[in-house]
Amino acid sequence: MSVEITERKQSAEGEARCPGAPTTQEIIAADRVAAPGWVRSESYQYLGDEDISTDRYIEPQYARMEMERLWTRTWQFACREEHIPEVGDYYVYDIGPYSLIVTRVAKNEIRAYYNACLHRGTKLRASGTLGNASEFKCSFHGWSWNVDGSNRTVVCPWDFPHVDRKKFSLPQARVELLGGFVFINMDPDAPTLSEYLGPAAKAHIDAWKLEDRYVYLHVSKRLPANWKLAVEAFLEAYHVIQTHPQVAVSNGDANSQYDIYGEHVNRFISTLGVLSPHLYGKHTEQDILEQFTLGDSGSVTGTKRTLDDGRTAREVMAGMFRGMFEKATNTDLSKVSDSELLDCFSYTVFPSLFLFPGISLPMVYRFRPDPKDHRACIYEVLFLRPVPVDGKRPEPAEPVHLRDEQSFKEAEGMDPGFGAILDQDTDNLFLQQEGIEASAKRGLTLGNYQEIRVRHFERSVEKYVAMPPKRPDWERSRKR
Ligand code: FES
Ligand SMILES: [Fe+2]
Repeated sequence: MSVEITERKQSAEGEARCPGAPTTQEIIAADRVAAPGWVRSESYQYLGDEDISTDRYIEPQYARMEMERLWTRTWQFACREEHIPEVGDYYVYDIGPYSLIVTRVAKNEIRAYYNACLHRGTKLRASGTLGNASEFKCSFHGWSWNVDGSNRTVVCPWDFPHVDRKKFSLPQARVELLGGFVFINMDPDAPTLSEYLGPAAKAHIDAWKLEDRYVYLHVSKRLPANWKLAVEAFLEAYHVIQTHPQVAVSNGDANSQYDIYGEHVNRFISTLGVLSPHLYGKHTEQDILEQFTLGDSGSVTGTKRTLDDGRTAREVMAGMFRGMFEKATNTDLSKVSDSELLDCFSYTVFPSLFLFPGISLPMVYRFRPDPKDHRACIYEVLFLRPVPVDGKRPEPAEPVHLRDEQSFKEAEGMDPGFGAILDQDTDNLFLQQEGIEASAKRGLTLGNYQEIRVRHFERSVEKYVAMPPKRPDWERSRKR
């Protein structure tokens, strides 16, 4: 089916779209297997065109304010449920100076304890660790707590008549579950996770059924830039033609779609199997197909296919993907739309989680600031796969920690073409961090449409940083 481009009026601010190219919705409307409503909708909003001030990326003071105002109030992905399947399993989630022991206390109950002894403060479990516990015992003087958080031992209780053990349960942060993700929030006054996401975005995330997937590869790497620059490197497809020219032949980059939902969620849809508008007139449908199937990046089949009887590369690729993933996952994908199979969908849940729920490249990103260096952050990429049809959930992959100088291609299990793309994405970051510090211009200038997710993200950063500081509350976190 050929793609219909409708005439568009582009008068008001933010209404302009890549001229002469079909929109994402027009591309999807021409697909053979139609997409569901949450794919076939748009939610763009113009949010102004002022520069984004650069002090937020370069001032240590700004990073401190984020730590005590933003990270203490927002919902954050701590771990997947499959990281802690059994009672007593725990996973230590660290964010800046804060640390939480996320643990399963009953089959259907997960809690997050502040990771600090109530005697003289020693961490009960080392940061970044996970395991199974029958109690959380302090390594200094031996006080201990049961898995349900109640106090188990005060050594030499005769010396602590002022300690009421009933009141010495481990304080807790809030926990909510969504799509197999365990979210925490340190703010007793925060909205519920559903309210935080809003009904539209929550319905999208529910529809992808991410609880039916498991982590089969987990890679982490320290990046040499402020965490917000790292997040923003993945919020648009505007950089594709310059940063990833090898994929532009089969990626609708300049005509990708950008949506915002409330204050905490945004998304893009970037179509695959179509030519970049930057390359119109330079490549054929056959080139698109060959780049995708034989190209050195994202090579999926290694088999040369020839387009016949006027079919488009996108149509053929959707069929190939359907067959390939049906075989790999032993499932029936005949009703799954071409778009869900092929396209790159990216949702962000402010501040740190990216969901890429599409079938061809299902991933999760997490970004966290380096608490000791505001010019660095920790980036993680987790690849998800459908749980096998026999229902037996494989153990989640252990994280592979890459050293600063290592390529993503070196992570065992990483597709080399995709590793090269991540290297390209992250190689610019140090230049950008240094450039912002060197610049005579104190603001970043953004495109009205293609960079709306950057503006939306920074608006939320500003909103939280403008609030008064909020530290975890000892009294209220004990009363959960
Ligand atoms: S600091 Fe934990 S028992 Fe003393
Ligand atoms: Fe990129």
